[in-house]
Amino acid sequence: MASLNTTYMGIELKNPLVVAACSLSGKVDNIRQVEEAGAGALVIKSLFEEQIRHEQDDLESMLTRGGESFAEAISYFPSLEHSGAREHLMWVEKARAAVQMPLVGSLNAVNPGRWVEYAKLLEESGVNALELNTYALETDKHVAAADIEKRLEDTVAAVAASCGLPVAVKLSPYYTSMANVVDRVQAAGAHGVVLFNRFLQPDIDPDTEQPRKAMTWSTPYEMLLPLRWIALLHGKTNIDLIGNTGIANGTDIAKMLLAGASAVQVAATLYRNGIRHISTMLAELSGWMDAKGYQDVAAFRGKCGQNTADQFIFERAQYVDFLMKQKEAKF
Ligand SMILES: Cc1cc2nc3c(=O)[nH]c(=O)nc-3n(C[C@H](O)[C@H](O)[C@H](O)COP(=O)(O)O)c2cc1C
Repeated sequence: MASLNTTYMGIELKNPLVVAACSLSGKVDNIRQVEEAGAGALVIKSLFEEQIRHEQDDLESMLTRGGESFAEAISYFPSLEHSGAREHLMWVEKARAAVQMPLVGSLNAVNPGRWVEYAKLLEESGVNALELNTYALETDKHVAAADIEKRLEDTVAAVAASCGLPVAVKLSPYYTSMANVVDRVQAAGAHGVVLFNRFLQPDIDPDTEQPRKAMTWSTPYEMLLPLRWIALLHGKTNIDLIGNTGIANGTDIAKMLLAGASAVQVAATLYRNGIRHISTMLAELSGWMDAKGYQDVAAFRGKCGQNTADQFIFERAQYVDFLMKQKEAKF
């Protein structure tokens, strides 16, 4: 049987299937089931910058209320600092104690700030790597794309400097020059990029004429954008490329690896099909590799990436070719 071993930012994984940050990791029983089903690793749901700030602000306003009492208050309430976000850390410690598989802690943040100390605290709670999700919709017309990218770089650098763990950055697909952004987050200290983050897109309810928050699962079609970018970036960077969004079965994992991914992350397909679906996906991947005669993942990783396949397949020539054929076709 083929070996599914891979590495994820230097960490040995028994296979490339990683459970993405999501609420499944909110229950220890689920995390155990993920391990039993054979996943390579799991990303624990995010700790949000706002969660940490909220606590830090609360603590500061309480401690500064009566100037003189500051030192006393600190000694009275040494454990008060970050108590809400502390719960998250306690949760991570509990998860760590429950399973052997590699665990990734997730920080969801936009600006560099004091919250980065949580990178160190997550490291101390026993996770093997960190993931940084940095997306926020910028609506201030005075903020230029370059400002947003600089903020991203600074945030990555602050997190990478504050802990000794490998750091993956979960990127939005909306950057104008993806290869440049990937290069810069690597220079700032990242070891991997997760392509891509997926966002809740609010709808409008025509009856109430109010915005409607609708939670929708990703569809297989959404996998094509990360697949394309992984293929385009493969061979142009040595940062780990991690596929995410729309991956639903073992064949999808095989495609991501063919494009050049080191690993993939999945969430929606587990909500749809149950946690046991992990073992089905792994059996499908393994069956595909056996049918193709691949002994291990290295035998085919990146085979359809930019450097090894026809380099125009994923770029403009593909589009031009398609349009020319449409023009020639008789309708
Ligand atoms: C219920 C739910 C909760 C999620 N929570 C987080 C989170 O805490 N942090 C994060 O970075 N992404 C979160 N995500 C996004 C997923 O990690 C993933 O990027 C997204 O669902 C796309 O993958 P999929 O197509 O396999 O679902 C969440 C997704 C779902 C469905």
